[in-house]
Amino acid sequence: MPYSKSTSNCRLLIETKPFQAMKLNNLNDLFIHELKDIYNAEHQIMKALPKMMEKCHSNELRTAFQTHLQETETQIERLDKVFQSLGEKATGEKCKAMEGIIREAEDILSENADPDVMDAALIASAQRVEHYEIAGYGTLCTYAKQLGATDALHLLQMTLDEEKNTDQKLTFIAESKVNIKAEHRSQR
Ligand SMILES: [Fe+2]
Ligand SMILES: [Fe+2]
Repeated sequence: MPYSKSTSNCRLLIETKPFQAMKLNNLNDLFIHELKDIYNAEHQIMKALPKMMEKCHSNELRTAFQTHLQETETQIERLDKVFQSLGEKATGEKCKAMEGIIREAEDILSENADPDVMDAALIASAQRVEHYEIAGYGTLCTYAKQLGATDALHLLQMTLDEEKNTDQKLTFIAESKVNIKAEHRSQR
């Protein structure tokens, strides 16, 4: 906790920094605000994916997570370029929604679950992450288009497509294998 000593007496001073909300005057301000949110969300995902990979029973699922971890690294680099193209410093603002989604995923990781059931739960958690990202990047693409930020739009669209592909890949793994194994698990 930050403190300072006065010369006359020793007092603990609680530093109460007022919350400095970014002023949103126009669509461009909102665009930058949303970019900072997703930038932070992507960094949170980078930390969470390796923990999820450790719990994977299915090799196919682990490979899908590994591929998306690499994609996420590239997506962060793309966001750096987006900020650069807009003349803005690449910084994040705590994405509380992603924090909550990841906290729920971590709760599942700590469950004593059958390996196949754990795989099904991991997919459910990962798809919540992907859907949040699809919503975020979808909005960002719309704003970039409206603002005529063509370089940013191109970069954001590439990431949006990757997020959609990942979501579809996870649906395929769930429906073709993981959910079926999890359904019959207790019958073995
Ligand atoms: Fe992402
Ligand atoms: Fe993603």
